[in-house]
Amino acid sequence: MVTSSGNKRPLQMKRITPVVRAMEVDISLSPRVNSVKPSKTVAISDQATALVQAGVPVIRLAAGEPDFDTPTVIAEAGMNAIREGYTRYTPNAGTLELRSVICDKLKEENGISYTPDQILVSNGAKQSVLQAVLAVCSPGDEVIIPGPFYVSYPEMARLADATPVILPTHISEDFLLDPKLLESKLSDKSRLLIICNPSNPTGSVYPRKLLEQIAQVVAKHPRLLVLSDEIYEHIIYAPATHTSFASLPGMWERTLTVNGFSKTFAMTGWRLGYLAGPKHFVVACGKIQSQATSGASSISQKAAVAALGMGYAGGVAVATMVKAFKERRDYLVQTFGELEGGAFYIFLDFSSYYGTEAEGFGMIKDSESLCRYLLDKGQVAVVPGDAFGDDTCIRISYAASLSTIQAAADSIKNALLYLRRAVPV
Ligand SMILES: Cc1ncc(COP(=O)(O)O)c(C=O)c1O
Repeated sequence: MVTSSGNKRPLQMKRITPVVRAMEVDISLSPRVNSVKPSKTVAISDQATALVQAGVPVIRLAAGEPDFDTPTVIAEAGMNAIREGYTRYTPNAGTLELRSVICDKLKEENGISYTPDQILVSNGAKQSVLQAVLAVCSPGDEVIIPGPFYVSYPEMARLADATPVILPTHISEDFLLDPKLLESKLSDKSRLLIICNPSNPTGSVYPRKLLEQIAQVVAKHPRLLVLSDEIYEHIIYAPATHTSFASLPGMWERTLTVNGFSKTFAMTGWRLGYLAGPKHFVVACGKIQSQATSGASSISQKAAVAALGMGYAGGVAVATMVKAFKERRDYLVQTFGELEGGAFYIFLDFSSYYGTEAEGFGMIKDSESLCRYLLDKGQVAVVPGDAFGDDTCIRISYAASLSTIQAAADSIKNALLYLRRAVPV
């Protein structure tokens, strides 16, 4: 190019800036997801894991899973299934072989009669509960949940566009649902009552008499179904005994019984649970499963057949695990005081420590700050009761060795010694 002064100017390359901007992505989520609360049990476990990764020797008593290995006969059956090429899809509802032995188990151990077409095997009891809630609840229905509750029940109700209605229970009544309170809260909107027996998180076991009183209330409401979560049925300590809700007079027709292999047989990673109930409801749940996950793992189903073949209530292998759970539990009861019951949790009222503070930590306001403090100072991971709908308590899982439990109890007691009542200013 020649300028007016006659000088030649080097040709300038013009930089072209791209005009296409990255298209903005709509990151909004469905109202259904937004209505679901994140799990506080997961939050505390994540915090504990982060500390362990940073080299802090945290004692983890937050998780809800046995510390035992899956019994050898079960593991062998799983390995044989792989060796024998039993690795293809099974029927959506589960293999006939497994559903048949589940029917035998329910008859023999629980006194309830089902045929294989009234059983749906799923990837864990959690899936069984969710599908049941989704299958029977319509928008606006109420799901009645005694609190403290298993963390997922209210959220599952929300996922079904139903409303969770929490009926509080009290430590003075062994955290058992009062039939009078239930009666006063039922209406035409009440669709599903969820009973967790033995209970996570409280360990409470419903006596047969109380279940009969609850059944009498339920019987007055034709729309009301009962989901009986019996996943801890065999982790139970004398004098407590377990009663299946569906075995009570008139309750079979309206009860959906959920059970699974995770807890009794130390099979959390095998992901296997099941639902038993009237065919109409079971088929509906199966319809959801067929479009979501299809049948459960073929290998786990072979292993589950072996598990149910170990004898009444899991035979010697399960009795040995339950004996160990009882020993640990007795130790914690001696140390902190608690109720008779089952599962592998104790749910303790620590609210007398609220309103105290520790140097360098600040105020203990609630179960969450107390659990954060116990993790910080005592290096013990336990779960705030708030996660289960009762902020006065914390849940300690004793699915860990006795020496670990003893070390944890000492650490908790020691950490509590540093708490001083805050002086009002
Ligand atoms: C009361 C209750 N129901 C169901 C489940 C889910 O068990 P699964 O591992 O079979 O999904 C749990 C697990 O913690 C539980 O505590």
